[in-house]
Amino acid sequence: MTGRVRLGINIDHVATLRNARGGAHPEPLRAAELALAAGADGITAHLREDRRHIRDEDIQALAKMLCARAKPLNFEMAATPAMLAIALTTRPHAAMLVPERREERTTEGGLDVAMGHARISLAVVALQEIGARVSLFIAADPAQIAAAARIGAHAVELHTGVYCDAVRAGEVAQAQDALLALQAGARQASSLGLEVHAGHGIDYATVAAIAAIPEIIELNIGHFLMGEALFVGLATAINGMRQRMDAARAALA
Ligand code: PXP
Repeated sequence: MTGRVRLGINIDHVATLRNARGGAHPEPLRAAELALAAGADGITAHLREDRRHIRDEDIQALAKMLCARAKPLNFEMAATPAMLAIALTTRPHAAMLVPERREERTTEGGLDVAMGHARISLAVVALQEIGARVSLFIAADPAQIAAAARIGAHAVELHTGVYCDAVRAGEVAQAQDALLALQAGARQASSLGLEVHAGHGIDYATVAAIAAIPEIIELNIGHFLMGEALFVGLATAINGMRQRMDAARAALA
């Protein structure tokens, strides 16, 4: 269980920059191609209800390009009827269900699978019927992980935001608690037969501790890499992340 960790690159914020001027540049599709060339294992894109960054036509272009290259599109979406209809026609390799509130700056909390059981469960079944691998973005909370297993999700993506924010704020005790929760959550999810992914807020300072959790097999990272790419280029930024992930994993062996 200590093999290489897959790196999914979230390209939403290339679209944020493009949309700031209303034109076509910079293109998310080109960023996705560069990310693959730099060693990304897949591309994540979040089609939000308000279309603030990724748009419908981006998803179609990404799906086509990734299919041609036999690389996975991880379609991040809310479990709404409208998003489900788009996912069912796009037929992505993977779908990641997230909560969504219009007023939030980014996906701020995990899904409440335990409470929103029926709606999420219907979406999981419909997506799995078209062959998509469904992950649920949740906090590393025992009740949420148990609920994700009960409804038959393929994977959970554990929310790393609390840990990453605490590290950045220098809150050592809180960071330690959050890391322990991620470690325990990863063990629990794996023991229930779920694939364990993680993401949100990861940067160079936080990736090693997360990649060193042996049950984690995929990280999805966006904002930090897009910001870093402004200074060093996307390929160099991604390579820096890849090297830190590989070093953390090698240290486990
Ligand atoms: N995973 C999920 C479920 C997300 O919502 C996001 C943010 O869009 C990410 C991973 C990537 O987070 P970040 O952009 O902070 O690296």
